[in-house]
Parts: sequence; C-alpha cells; structure tokens
Amino acid sequence: LDNGLGKTPQMGWNSWNHFGCSINETIIHATADALIATGLAQAGYTYVNVDDCWASSRDQTTNYIIPDPIGFPSGMASLADYVHSRGLLFGLYSDAGIETCAGRPGSYGYEDIDAQIYAQWKVDYLKYDNCYAGPTNKTIKERYERMRDALNRTGRPIFYSACEWGEMLPAIWFRAIANSWRTTSDISDHWISMLLNIDINDLFANFAAPHGFNDPDMLEVGNGGMTSTEYRTHMSLWSIAKAPLLIGCDVRQLSQETLEILTNSEVIAVNQDSLGIQGQKIRIDLEHDTEVWAGPLADGSKAVLAFNRAHIINQTISVSFPDLGWKSTSRVKVRDLWLHQDLGEFQGNYTAFNIESHGAQLLKMTLITL
Ligand code: GLA
Repeated sequence: LDNGLGKTPQMGWNSWNHFGCSINETIIHATADALIATGLAQAGYTYVNVDDCWASSRDQTTNYIIPDPIGFPSGMASLADYVHSRGLLFGLYSDAGIETCAGRPGSYGYEDIDAQIYAQWKVDYLKYDNCYAGPTNKTIKERYERMRDALNRTGRPIFYSACEWGEMLPAIWFRAIANSWRTTSDISDHWISMLLNIDINDLFANFAAPHGFNDPDMLEVGNGGMTSTEYRTHMSLWSIAKAPLLIGCDVRQLSQETLEILTNSEVIAVNQDSLGIQGQKIRIDLEHDTEVWAGPLADGSKAVLAFNRAHIINQTISVSFPDLGWKSTSRVKVRDLWLHQDLGEFQGNYTAFNIESHGAQLLKMTLITL
C-alpha cells in the first residue's frame, strides 16, 4: 500500500503470542519501558502493538468503540500518549467482520467511526483480522478496502497490517490494499509450526517488495517452546525472508540469550535492507534435509542461509556460487553475520561445516572478482 509506510518490514512488539487476552495498560506501559531499557527499541523494535481484547463494546448511541474498562481504565489515548512519550509508536487491533476472533466488537460497518477515533487517539498501526465475516456477505477485498479507505480519510499515516491467514492468497493481490499481509494461519511456539509458516510464506516470495511484505506471523523467540538454536534459526529465516519482526515474548523478563538473538545488528540489517527483496529457498537437499536460502541486498551482496533442518546430526552444507548467479570461477568474500566474523575468500563455492541439527549459518557474500 502506497501510504508512505513499511518501506522495510515493520519491527516492534505485539501482545498476542505471549499474553493472549490477558492484557492491560500496566503490561503495555511496562513493555514500552522494557523496550527502551533493554535496547530493543534502539535496535529498531519501535511499534508497541496491542492485539485482540482491548475493546469491550460499542456505545449504543454514538457507536464509538469502548476500551475494556478493567484492562484499560485510562483509555487508549492516554496509553498512546505514554507509548509516544517513550519515543515509540502505538498499534491497535480490529477485525473486518462483526466480531474479533476473541469475540470483541468488529469494525465491519463502523470503519469510518473506528478509523477516526484511532486517528484521534494517535494510533500508528492497525492489525486487521478476518473473523466473523460471514454475516457481512462481503468479499475480503471489499472489507479490507473499506478500512484502507477509512484510514486514508483520517489523514494520519497508519500502518495497515492485514491478517486473513493467507486463505485467499493475499500476497498475489493485496499490494494495493495493505502494508503487509499474513500468508499463513497462526504460528505457535513450536519448531514444526514455525517451519510450516516460513515454508508457506516462501511460496509467495516474489510478491514482497517495499510497502507490502509477506507476513508469516509474529516471532516466538523467547517464549520457551524451542531451543536457542531453533530460535536463532527462526530469527534468521524471518530476517532473510523480509518478514515483519514483531517480538511475541514478555520483554519485561528477557534472558540475555533471547536479547542477543533479537538484537543482533547484522542479522537485523538483512531484514531491514533497503532493497526489500525477500530471500528464498534456492536449493533443497532432500537426502540430507538441508537447504540454502538466499536473497540480494542493496549493496550488491547476497544474504545466504545454510540451514540444517534434520534431527540429531551435524551436517556439511555447500553453497555453490552459480546458484547465487555468480560463476564457478568467482571469488567471493564470506561473512558470518551472527558472529560478526569474516570467514575468508572462497572460489566457486563455500562450504559450511558442522551445522548443528535445526541450526543455520546466516552469511553475507560479496563478490570480489567475477
Ligand atoms: C487471530 C490472529 C492472531 C490473533 C488472534 C486474536 O487468530 O491470526 O494473530 O490476532 O486472532 O484473537
């Protein structure tokens, strides 16, 4: 969507993966504080997004949406002010049907009234879900365009994140509608779920570009259901695939390891590269269950992931330079982005040794001589 936003994938935090409906303004305040204190904000995570369950009902006469009086007694304008006072941006959630997925009021039929109040509250981001749409008898296109136009009429730049779970293949036709679109159903904090989402998302790689990115759902890093190796791989895959980097854990109590996975500057730089081209799987070795993913970067180099999907064993993964569009005689400089280490110059191919089970090396490769 050409609203000036989302030149690179959005970065921030969202309440859903960790808190679900158990949210309140105290948690959001503390989260904003923690994003600053931990250095996450400095690393680029600037959106503070409240997901489902912040709204309770509509005013019977004005139709204004009413925040949950127990969780958000001070109201959303005051919460947005707090988040802004910390130099961060504020996001909310609603739904293109008659109810949200958790049964709170949806925005269908109230798009303008809701968009106007978001703008009045100084909301910077809207995640727009697709539950309970049946009764509207309207197409996805029509319902998502209604909110796009309503947001546009407010005159306030509001990032528009569509969440229809990839059912109607939004990647193919949502560029004119939203700044990002979910390509998959909900992620859960498990290795298999994470892989399923990024694999589906990969099918649509060619449709991603600045101002409109594929969204394989939010990060689970730090939530406890995967090993550190798996979380590092999760972060590597989301970075190379230009996926939104929306933290889904409790940032008020982060381990040092989680923080290091989320804040590696060279890994984030791949995700935020100005070219905005989604890296994709370029080689699959079914026998060994390994893969090579790659994508171009603005400076002419390539981001490359050598990924061992297999259980148990350490593996050797070879990256051939012709696979990257270079020659078998090309000399290429290789850098390990997680370790911030130059690994040397290689001709024809680069071989990654001892990649542990579920682990990956995220590399930057730069052509030296053709
Ligand atoms: C859907 C979305 C999730 C989350 C929940 C909230 O399942 O896909 O990301 O927003 O609704 O109810």
